[in-house]
Amino acid sequence: MMVKFQAVESEALDWSGDGLVVSLFEGEVELTGSLAQLDEKLFGTVKELIAEKEFEGKSGSLAAARVGGGCSIRKVILVGLGQRDNLTLEGIRLAAAAAARSAKAEKCKTVAVSFPVWNGAAAKTARAIVEGVELALFQDSRFKSEPDKNHTVESVDLLGLAGTDEAIAQAMQICAGVNLARELVAAPANTCTPITMAEMAQALASELGLELEILEKEDCEKLGMGAFLGVAQASDLPPKFIHMTYKPRITPRRKLAIVGKGLTFDSGGLNLKTQGGIETMKMDMGGAAATFGAAKAIGLLKPADIEVHFVSAVTENMISGHAMHPGDFLTASNGKTIEINNTDAEGRLTLADALVFTEKLGVDAIVDLATLTGACVIALGDDIAGLWSTSDELAAEVHQASELAGEKLWRMPLEEKYFEGLKAMHADMKNTGPRPGGAITAALFLKQFVEKTPWVHLDIAGPVWTDKEKGYNGAGATGFGVRTLVNWVLNG
Ligand code: BES
Ligand code: MN
Ligand code: ZN
Repeated sequence: MMVKFQAVESEALDWSGDGLVVSLFEGEVELTGSLAQLDEKLFGTVKELIAEKEFEGKSGSLAAARVGGGCSIRKVILVGLGQRDNLTLEGIRLAAAAAARSAKAEKCKTVAVSFPVWNGAAAKTARAIVEGVELALFQDSRFKSEPDKNHTVESVDLLGLAGTDEAIAQAMQICAGVNLARELVAAPANTCTPITMAEMAQALASELGLELEILEKEDCEKLGMGAFLGVAQASDLPPKFIHMTYKPRITPRRKLAIVGKGLTFDSGGLNLKTQGGIETMKMDMGGAAATFGAAKAIGLLKPADIEVHFVSAVTENMISGHAMHPGDFLTASNGKTIEINNTDAEGRLTLADALVFTEKLGVDAIVDLATLTGACVIALGDDIAGLWSTSDELAAEVHQASELAGEKLWRMPLEEKYFEGLKAMHADMKNTGPRPGGAITAALFLKQFVEKTPWVHLDIAGPVWTDKEKGYNGAGATGFGVRTLVNWVLNG
């Protein structure tokens, strides 16, 4: 049920259909030139609407009205862009999302949008509009007993953006990746398991021509993945170590890797979580979901000269007579020993073996994404992911990619001194440090498992989920990270 987008040469004046979206800058709502002509065609509806709703063009503001008198445009929707000088791609994305929601509420099937071109970049503008609309209108009714009978927007014409067809097609492919990630995160732990994640990888691989390697428990044992398997050992479900590869036709200029934390449920283990924390832990595979979403988008976009590895060690963190005990020692696949002083710090254990495996692939850079710590949510809130890196250059690349996507990241320190908090008496390290700086010690723990490859760690515990509708995200899973990853792979 994707929206059909089309870039058209014509301007608003020549368009006809259900809903016309007109965007206006703050303080520029006098109707002159072509806008005045348009208003004439609409029997003065725009002027009336501006006056009646005191519409000033403030960013995020909306006003909609019926055009009477058998006009070939049924409804007009005004959306504010804020100050002209402050216009950003994210501003366009958000305005497009607000307009799309309004068009849906106004029961418009055929819609046209008229937005200014940002910074002379028509392709980027088109992409932002498509992302805003497509992501805002996405609805996940897989688990409802009745199919969604709501009226929805069927087509959106991008006025004045002729020639951006390729950008539109790419944006649709990227959104398909984001929406896949959202569906994976939203699916509960009784339908999204290590087995179904492996099946999804299989489906993606055959649909997109990716290479696929799935390591079963025995394969992981042979590789000495004691940290990953320690987490998996209480589950009745088999762990799946999933490795997909996108290979271009020609010799790659760069080999990249994306690693995602894949806990289909995190009960905490014997350090059991309680109500107020445990009931949302289906989203603890948000890193793996972003990895799969990026795999889908990259598999569709097919970059010419970049090889990309997608890795996730998938399992659930459960309790049983087989559960790892607090105090157990585990040995990871690089030989390092870990004292488990808290079974709820399980993500870093699964990532430890995933990172060691990934580095052995000989890639040029690794980005991992993980719903790793509550401490990161305390530090940065719900909207911003933490970024840690051993490489300023790679950190800058990922940062730039995130800015283009409108996904917020903030660089945090890999403060070596804090590793003291992870010192263990008899093992090489503990898996948990003290509460202060908990997101930093988690990152320092991961660093023990990356020897020399430039590496970025993203803690996405905050932005992976939103309780309320926010911008182009509906309530629930956001698919955070996918668009940043795709931008990073495509643009370096
Ligand atoms: N999956 C959680 C982190 C998390 C918390 C994600 C809240 C999203 C929202 C992780 O496995 C965890 O339990 N971390 C512990 C670490 C602690 C035991 C050192 C935490 O953050 O409390
Ligand atoms: Mn945990
Ligand atoms: Zn977890």
